[in-house]
Amino acid sequence: MLDMASNARKNRSGAILTVDLDAIRANYRLLRTRAGTAACSAVLKSDAYGLGAAQVAAALHQEGCRHFFVAHLDEGITLRPQLAPDADIFVLHGPPPKTEAEFIAHGLIPVLNSLQQVEGWRGHAKALQRALPAIIQVDSGMSRMGLAPLEVDAWLADPHFLGGIALRYLMSHLACADQPENPMNALQLERFRMIRARLPHCPASFANSSGIFLPSDYHFDLVRPGAALYGIAPNASGSNPMQAVVRLQGKVLQTRTISRGDHVGYSLRYTASETRQVATVSVGYADGWLRNMSNLGVAIVDGIRVPQIGAISMDTITLDVSALPAERVAPGSLVDLICPEHPVDTVARLANTIGYEVLTNLGPRLYREYKDATRALS
Ligand SMILES: Cc1ncc(COP(=O)(O)O)c(C=O)c1O
Repeated sequence: MLDMASNARKNRSGAILTVDLDAIRANYRLLRTRAGTAACSAVLKSDAYGLGAAQVAAALHQEGCRHFFVAHLDEGITLRPQLAPDADIFVLHGPPPKTEAEFIAHGLIPVLNSLQQVEGWRGHAKALQRALPAIIQVDSGMSRMGLAPLEVDAWLADPHFLGGIALRYLMSHLACADQPENPMNALQLERFRMIRARLPHCPASFANSSGIFLPSDYHFDLVRPGAALYGIAPNASGSNPMQAVVRLQGKVLQTRTISRGDHVGYSLRYTASETRQVATVSVGYADGWLRNMSNLGVAIVDGIRVPQIGAISMDTITLDVSALPAERVAPGSLVDLICPEHPVDTVARLANTIGYEVLTNLGPRLYREYKDATRALS
């Protein structure tokens, strides 16, 4: 049950973002099953792709997840008190210079991506006179994060390289896993395997969401899904096996009738060719409704698709609701902008981007609520 203050905030809000934690749980179970013998972690960076790291972490911990990834040290510091001590939190970006002590103070495990980070962590282990856990990332072809091939060779030739570092996983990241046919997948796998073969006792982590849908030799010991947990399709083409997680509903602010030749919005980017009914809805690019969708977006009302017309403003969009009965689009009526019939990947295509960007842009003004069968709506 919503308390009175939450109800009041919901009434005042311009739009409502509903995050289905039960669907996230179901997605986690599906990914874990597909991952076979590999443990299944959860990637919670950028506030769980904009959906609320605290809520997602709690739901997935209940589901048995014990490995969580964030990108930044600060994200780890925020998440730590929200998770039980039996959960490991790994920080993908590793320690910024001179922050090693903060990792220890907050019980966080770094992913070490460079020689400098390895050296800093080794030095800290020496200062504390105990072994410190870490993941080491190697670059298998993405040229973004991790030790370069020559650095890996230097590591493997140096028996003191790890001195004081308790290596939890050897890790790398796939660049094209959402395209199963892309030959880069096999090339990265081969490079990763060759490094792994020189560290036979070290567990390994390679696959993101899409990698979990590649053959099982991509799974190793720990998979790292983010997007698929949140309902984004793991495969660039084909059907989406994940449950929809997000519903975004905008509220109608006002409606009007426009005539042939009338214009709508900034720069008059829409001109009516005949009489139209227009509804102005309280969501805009400041809420993450990407301006690229001007004249392209769609809203769904009772299963009917209505086109978004004109430029997207900071706080509003305008819809052509001529196909709907007037009483259905009165001030305060809700229209669906993201929903199972119009999922985040479809929205992303309209905006010429990817679902990740749509989700992580959803802004702080949206009223957020969580569906969770283990509790009433919160
Ligand atoms: C290193 C690393 N691992 C795992 C993930 C999760 O990837 P995805 O959201 O595609 O599952 C990411 C996300 O970008 C990442 O950077």
